[in-house]
Amino acid sequence: MEPIELIQTPLAPVPSPWDSPQLKGMMITTDLIQKQVGELANEIAQHIPQDKPIVVLSLLSGAFLFTADLIRHWHFPFELDFMGVSSYGKGTASGELTWTYPLQIDLKGKHVLVVDDILDTGQTLCKVTRKLAGSEPASIRTCVLLLKKRTQSCENPFEADFVGFRIPDQFVVGYGLDFGMQFRQLPFIGVLNGPEG
Ligand code: PRP
Repeated sequence: MEPIELIQTPLAPVPSPWDSPQLKGMMITTDLIQKQVGELANEIAQHIPQDKPIVVLSLLSGAFLFTADLIRHWHFPFELDFMGVSSYGKGTASGELTWTYPLQIDLKGKHVLVVDDILDTGQTLCKVTRKLAGSEPASIRTCVLLLKKRTQSCENPFEADFVGFRIPDQFVVGYGLDFGMQFRQLPFIGVLNGPEG
């Protein structure tokens, strides 16, 4: 399944209850997010091997809404766990990763699906998957809702296995993504106003 390309798509107005001078516009509507999350869920269900236990590993905090919507499409058995990792803090420049919440589940011999909201520089997923490999899982796959590649910070460019949307290089918020810990609750993907957007 190919991601939906939004590179050239103009922004829509922000729906009135959420209208804010901090938001430049809406990039992805709630309906389109939900439709594509359903497609991704089907794609993953078809491709994830079920010969061994499956662990879905959601990266806090940004992936909490995406994970919640994704997993409600699935009928196969899996364990769900969360891993806390942060790179941005209150600003918008990518930096060192901080581990904020440790894994609770043993991954050895299991198929792991890492779920994150956005792949930007790739630093987060690159480092997370390297760390997880040390737990000797049977396999590691990655799923992101948004792909916004800029510079690659690893020796090898990081490619996610499942991608919902390919987006332009703008600072996006909503549906779990924050700016200064705000805007995570927006049911759509919006673009921040100002130099960051
Ligand atoms: C964001 C996002 C991804 C990561 C992507 O996390 O949730 O995990 O950045 O960027 P990268 O590909 O350049 O590494 P952030 O560090 O802002 O933490 P959060 O999820 O708590 O918002």
